[in-house]
Amino acid sequence: MKISLTGIKPTGNIHIGNYFGAIKPALALTSKYFGVYFVADLHALNSNPSPLELQQLIYEVAASWIAFGLDTEKAIFFRQSDIHEIPELTTILSAVTPKGLMNRAHAYKAMVDKNIETGRDPDDGVNMGLFTYPILMAADILLYDSDFVPVGPDQRQHVEIARDIAENINRIYGKTLKLPEGNFAKDLKDIPGIDGRKMSKSYGNTLPIFCTEKELRKQVMRIVTDSTPPEDPKNPDSDNLFQIFKLFGSSERVEEVRQLYLKGGLAYGTLKQELFETMLVTFKPARERFNYLMENKPEIDLLLAQGAEKARELGRPVLARVRKAVGLDR
Ligand code: TRP
Repeated sequence: MKISLTGIKPTGNIHIGNYFGAIKPALALTSKYFGVYFVADLHALNSNPSPLELQQLIYEVAASWIAFGLDTEKAIFFRQSDIHEIPELTTILSAVTPKGLMNRAHAYKAMVDKNIETGRDPDDGVNMGLFTYPILMAADILLYDSDFVPVGPDQRQHVEIARDIAENINRIYGKTLKLPEGNFAKDLKDIPGIDGRKMSKSYGNTLPIFCTEKELRKQVMRIVTDSTPPEDPKNPDSDNLFQIFKLFGSSERVEEVRQLYLKGGLAYGTLKQELFETMLVTFKPARERFNYLMENKPEIDLLLAQGAEKARELGRPVLARVRKAVGLDR
């Protein structure tokens, strides 16, 4: 079975943008691929989070994925930092990675451009973790002979860089590493936030899934709409509330609501209340499972430790192949 690999940065407060844009499509792949999922905690270190915050975020993101149905028996789910083969492979890959390739990586380049624009030193605030981020990610991808890496548009370049690095190894040392497929999951689309821009934590426009009911209701009520009065007809396709509602309502209900928009007679506030209630029903099992896991962290620890064992079993032969190819082992 082919391997599909997904790395998840531990950022807090999983929201419906994460769910519909990334988690749900990634989990759906497990029918066709052997799923390898991990919490990319080493990558998170680049922003120097406080240790306590990082701990909490690792648990939250792990609990979220399990709560959404990641089957830890069928797939492999683990923490990146438990895999000691990763830093070793990263070091080896660094030796065949041109510095110029890193100079062109989007995240680093964006930071340099911003520094120059604002008259600062070009590398102001840039640490080596950020600069070499794509090499660590290449190690993540290449260690398990991954076939497929479903990522959104913002991570495409990183997968391309991983292919470039694998090609360098293969060119210099003979065919050693498998190149991950260069195509990307096309259904990974952005979900609109409560203000209509892409839903993102950095915009503060999210609908979080694992918050209190009161917090969720407050955010739903803040969804931005125009000021068309209830009795007037409205355009469902340009309305942000409708775009979000579509993600949750049954197809019949969505069609009914669409007609209400077109005919007039719909109050935005009423639809928001319905959206809130529908979200609670949709996410009830996940919310319960999440809360249970967060109160029983040793269960998360155990699942991650078991996953790490399996991941290392998968990765060890690949690293052995690389060590031999480059001449570290006979
Ligand atoms: N860089 C990815 C992100 O920010 C997370 C990630 C780390 C990843 N390693 C990976 C994704 C390997 C796919 C494959 O979202």
